Amino acid sequence: MKVLKSYNELSYVVADIVEEQVQEYPFSKLVLPTGSTPLGLYEELVNRELDWSLVVTFNLDEYIMNINHPYSYHSYMRKNLFDRINIYPDNCHFPFRPTLSFEDKMNVNKGIDLCILGIGSNGHIAFNEPGSAFDSRTRVVDLTEQTIKDNSIHFDSIDDVPKQAITMGLGTIMEAKKIVLMAKGQSKFNMLNLAFIGEVTEDVPASILQKHNNVEVYYCD
Ligand code: PGA
Repeated sequence: MKVLKSYNELSYVVADIVEEQVQEYPFSKLVLPTGSTPLGLYEELVNRELDWSLVVTFNLDEYIMNINHPYSYHSYMRKNLFDRINIYPDNCHFPFRPTLSFEDKMNVNKGIDLCILGIGSNGHIAFNEPGSAFDSRTRVVDLTEQTIKDNSIHFDSIDDVPKQAITMGLGTIMEAKKIVLMAKGQSKFNMLNLAFIGEVTEDVPASILQKHNNVEVYYCD
């Protein structure tokens, strides 16, 4: 794990990784996260004016809700990244049903090149909550009380937070060639230690990343 001095540095360092990937291989397939942590990354990427015209993206997850709702992850991605770069909307994918077709799209041309992840305060990655099977695939899941509480800051009230989501599985995420996890704040630091130094257990979904051969973790307070 690399501990960085500031949130700006966290955003900058991960933007460097994305930039290098997209410049070296313009046809890159990327997996992208939502939430508070990647907002600085997306701002930085917009400022760099990269050529996204051949890039294909897959978001980690989406709530079960109207995708045009202002708080959906479709809306989040349009607002913070997609509407501000030259990516083709048809190249921006979100998990959908049937989930097998979504995974088929990811697997075209040797699969995902780079997956950017966050981590939940309960150790989830994407919406794979504690207890998720390590070989799980894209599917509909129930959100835990903890995740609903954590994510309520993005909604008008906790009652507005959807109770279900559709998420890539842990098995799906593990197939990416390279994984970069970004995290901010003390509660995430404790969880990162549990996930990367503790036992590999389905109780801590992110601990499966110990089994991946190309993972980088970046943290700031
Ligand atoms: P956050 O979410 O960036 O809003 O803290 C991370 C996550 O739940 O994966």
